[in-house]
Amino acid sequence: MSSTPVRLAVFASGGGSNFDAIARHFKDSQLLQVVLCVSNKPKAGVLDKARSLAIPTAVIETRDPDIYLHSLLQALEQHGVTHIALAGYLKMIPVGLIERFRNRIVNIHPSLLPAFGGKGMYGRRVHEAVIASGTRWSGATVHFVDETYDTGPIIMQEPVPVASDDDAASLAARILKVEHRLYPAVLELLSQGRITLTDNRVYIRDA
Ligand code: GRF
Repeated sequence: MSSTPVRLAVFASGGGSNFDAIARHFKDSQLLQVVLCVSNKPKAGVLDKARSLAIPTAVIETRDPDIYLHSLLQALEQHGVTHIALAGYLKMIPVGLIERFRNRIVNIHPSLLPAFGGKGMYGRRVHEAVIASGTRWSGATVHFVDETYDTGPIIMQEPVPVASDDDAASLAARILKVEHRLYPAVLELLSQGRITLTDNRVYIRDA
C-alpha cells in the first residue's frame, strides 16, 4: 500500500461522466482524494459536476504553450496534486507536464488500444471507425500517458461487444458504462501502490 494518499487531478473537456464516477467512487476514500478538476473549456459540463461535489476547478484556455504549461503546473502545485487522470481531455498535454509527472498520468480510451487510437481518434470518431471496420469487439483501455497519443503502457482493458445494429451513440453508451467501473478500479489499484512499471510493462501485484 502506498504510504501517502494519492491527490488526483482529473482533466476533462466534456460532460465528465468519468469524472463523476471517479469522484463518487473515492468520496470517502483514505487512499485517493480528487482534489482538482482541470478543463480547457469554460462551459464544459464537468465543471458543474465538480462544483456540485465541492471539488475545486481550474479552467486553462490559453493557446500560448509556455503560459499553458506554467498555468497547469501552478494549479497542480497549488492543490498538491500527485497524480493526473485524463477523462475526455481534448487538448495535448505539454511534454513538460509529462516529464514532471512521469508515470503518474493515466488516460481512458474508448476502444481496445492499440486498435482505433492515435491522433484524431476521439469521441464518436472512434466508434464510427470501429463499426465501419466490422469488428465484433470494442472496449475500454486505461493506460499510462507518454509523449504520443494513446501509445503509453496499457494498464487494464475490458472488451465490449459490438452489436449488429449499433451506431456510434449506442456503442459509446455501452462502453461508457464499462469505463465508469474500469477507471475507478484502476485508480484504486494505483492508490494501493499495486501497479508497477518495469521496462515499459505494467505489472499488477496481488493484494
Ligand atoms: C470517454 O469515452 C473517454 O473514454 C474518452 O472521452 C470520453 C469522455 O466522456 N477519453 P465523459 O466526459 O467522461 O462522459
